[in-house]
Amino acid sequence: MILRELNGGSCKTYLIADEGRGRAVLVDPLYAHVERYIAVLAYHRLELDMVIDSHTHADHLSGCPQLRFLLGPPFAMQKWAPSPAVDRHLEEGDEIPVGDLVVRVLHTPGHTPDGMSLLVAGHVLTGDTLFIGGSGRTDFAGGDAGAQYDAVTGKLFTLPDDTVVRPGHDYRGNTTSTIGREKQTNPRLANRTRQDYIDLMNNLQLSPPQNIQEVLQPNQSAISNEDISFPDWSELKKVREIDVQALQGMLDSETRPLLVDVREPAEYSGELGHLAGSVLIPLRELMNRVTEIAEHKEAPVVTICRAGMRSATAAAILGRSGFSDVSNLAGGLLAWNEARLRVER
Ligand SMILES: [Fe+2]
Repeated sequence: MILRELNGGSCKTYLIADEGRGRAVLVDPLYAHVERYIAVLAYHRLELDMVIDSHTHADHLSGCPQLRFLLGPPFAMQKWAPSPAVDRHLEEGDEIPVGDLVVRVLHTPGHTPDGMSLLVAGHVLTGDTLFIGGSGRTDFAGGDAGAQYDAVTGKLFTLPDDTVVRPGHDYRGNTTSTIGREKQTNPRLANRTRQDYIDLMNNLQLSPPQNIQEVLQPNQSAISNEDISFPDWSELKKVREIDVQALQGMLDSETRPLLVDVREPAEYSGELGHLAGSVLIPLRELMNRVTEIAEHKEAPVVTICRAGMRSATAAAILGRSGFSDVSNLAGGLLAWNEARLRVER
């Protein structure tokens, strides 16, 4: 087995390979280093079976879409990933064969709803869920300190103590730890209750990563910054969110809102279906097609997508275009389906 970190910096990309069979997967590749990864694969005579992001990244542009474009492997992420570029959605317990190796998926949300950890041959790639002596921040949209505590203590800390921890980041020059060591010494987690952890994480007061909007929104939407003018941090913060029950209540009432679904056409008619009566305007076309719904500027409008991220961007764009009563459906079609509400296909 080859299990190697390929960047040599604070942001980590892992190659997992069965050298004998010539098969490999890459986890969390950076867009900036795609050529380096292709060279490493060629040097070891490895073919990529899959490219994987452990979660939606806010600090770097993902290299997965580019590697898929150049080399052809499917792009996989956890089911809650918002991006329409993902080919394969992974869930708890899924197994990914890599030659004779098996990579097993653990859903470990908290840093983001789509966070996962990958277990292979006594090693666990913990993404931005668990770091060496730390954990991933939980203050972005969709972050949840309680969920992160549950994922770490209920899943990662139940692995054998000698399981090798391979984090998605390290800012102190560490490369590996073990589950046993983190259980004993991780200052955020050792001997802390769930409520201690939530209080700690909600009071870190970190500044947002540099360039967050330049990378987060393209990673969420598979749209580049050249294609549309994304809303900034302050515009996004103003977006009002409603949950699926509140939307169902609105649909049952007399002031039925206009439903604007901003996914791609293939998603609208895909497995998650769509809400009856919703208008499809893909996010990348929204700015140019806003006139089609201009008569609703004063009326209630609800934006909808897969996971509630692209639709937050859409809600901010509509707000900027003069719409006065826009809400974003939190959790999107994933939450709607999870609540077993009615969809059309
Ligand atoms: Fe992250």
